[in-house]
Amino acid sequence: MQTVSRRSWAEPFKIKVVEPLKMTTREHRERVLTEAGFNTFLLRSEDVYIDLLTDSGTNAMSDNQWAGMMLGDEAYAGSRNFYNLEEKVRQYYGYKHLVPTHQGRGAENLISRILIKPGDFIPGNMYFTTTRLHQELAGGTFVDVIIDEAHDPASPHPFKGNVNLQKLADLVQRVGAAKVPYVSVAATVNMAGGQPIALENLRQVRAFCARQGIRVILDATRALENAYFIKEREPGYADRTLAEILKEMCACTDGCTMSGKKDLLVNIGGFLAVNDDAVFEEARNLVVVYEGLHTYGGLAGRDLEAMARGIEEAVQYDHMRARIGQIYYVGERLQALGIPIVQPIGGHAIFVDAKRFLPHLRQLEFPAQTLAAELYLESGIRAMERGIVSAGRSKETGDHYYPKLELVRLTFPRRVYTQAHCDVTVESIQAVHEVRGAIKGLKMIYEPKYLRFFQARFEHLP
Ligand code: F0G
Repeated sequence: MQTVSRRSWAEPFKIKVVEPLKMTTREHRERVLTEAGFNTFLLRSEDVYIDLLTDSGTNAMSDNQWAGMMLGDEAYAGSRNFYNLEEKVRQYYGYKHLVPTHQGRGAENLISRILIKPGDFIPGNMYFTTTRLHQELAGGTFVDVIIDEAHDPASPHPFKGNVNLQKLADLVQRVGAAKVPYVSVAATVNMAGGQPIALENLRQVRAFCARQGIRVILDATRALENAYFIKEREPGYADRTLAEILKEMCACTDGCTMSGKKDLLVNIGGFLAVNDDAVFEEARNLVVVYEGLHTYGGLAGRDLEAMARGIEEAVQYDHMRARIGQIYYVGERLQALGIPIVQPIGGHAIFVDAKRFLPHLRQLEFPAQTLAAELYLESGIRAMERGIVSAGRSKETGDHYYPKLELVRLTFPRRVYTQAHCDVTVESIQAVHEVRGAIKGLKMIYEPKYLRFFQARFEHLP
């Protein structure tokens, strides 16, 4: 298994602007966390010390991106920044057509509405919250066809994002190819722990789908992080550039949805990109209803420009090595302390295994939600639940989904925190680990209908 040695390199940037952090007392944190219903999404950012809630839109932009912001062409139609972005998407992702959207889920809405008919099935390598919801809102049913290893936090499989081709073939056999509009392939797989899919596997998915007349749609949100893992781990790719690997991945698919708020180093933005002219026509028409005209898609010209410039920075090997290397630095320190985390370490986050961290809690006592709350109380560090609360309820039975993975995600914004912040994070988790036996679970007292993890509220069990 590859590890990244922290000693041989440092971040390929220096800091030009700083934003002060506020330190808080435990007393203060107890008060605000109770007010927030023990849900870290409901905390105010100013009450957070180190914010590892998400890597989404939390990136530090470069001087070059900020300079690009001043070149925003804020015309309603035909902004020059749209054409810059279109050129970069064609150059690096290789798709023919671009439709910008305000963020990833805007693109998911469009592609789901265009391709899914009520009664359809959409296989995918594990669900993502917003992706599955848009598939369901369009009348489809998501079917998980990821390899079994992905559901086992202890499995060291190097490509836990791989599709199990047998599961895929079984589904197509059962429901018929006409009811499978596309396979939804994520790279990397967020809910599995930031785990990559191998190019060989993606090629096999492509070949199978080509025979069946089924499209492949890539969730390219963290595809460049996936490309880095392919370069590091997949035989034959060590000498290829990230840009070459990305192109090859995209070439196995018919289009992608993209949340630029991750890989592309911006604070807002996304897109849908496709090859098919008819799908593009439909998307270009529909985007006007939900996002804005097809040359801005809900974004300002300056945001389009920052994303176009972000693509060029994100494909740089030195950037990606430092980005993923930082996460390996934290992960390896936690492992050395015996703290249970998902193996292998992921591309955007460390996923702490709350089932093993708090083995005395039942899943309905919300171990991951509890652990995220305890970490905040201990240190002011904000993490996120990725377990039963995030999994939501079955559309059919109304019962909770009981995911095998009950995780707390420590997600690293790109280019934001230093190694000292990483050290404080490790020590804070260690402090919670030392008192884990005394930690009590939570009870859900308010549950929203959609994507409940964002706004659900909890209180302490007695
Ligand atoms: N796909 C993946 C794999 C994601 O991780 C996200 C967002 C989206 C799609 C949706 O993109 O937020 O721009 O609408 N993930 C964020 C996270 C929210 O924290 O993991 P969006």
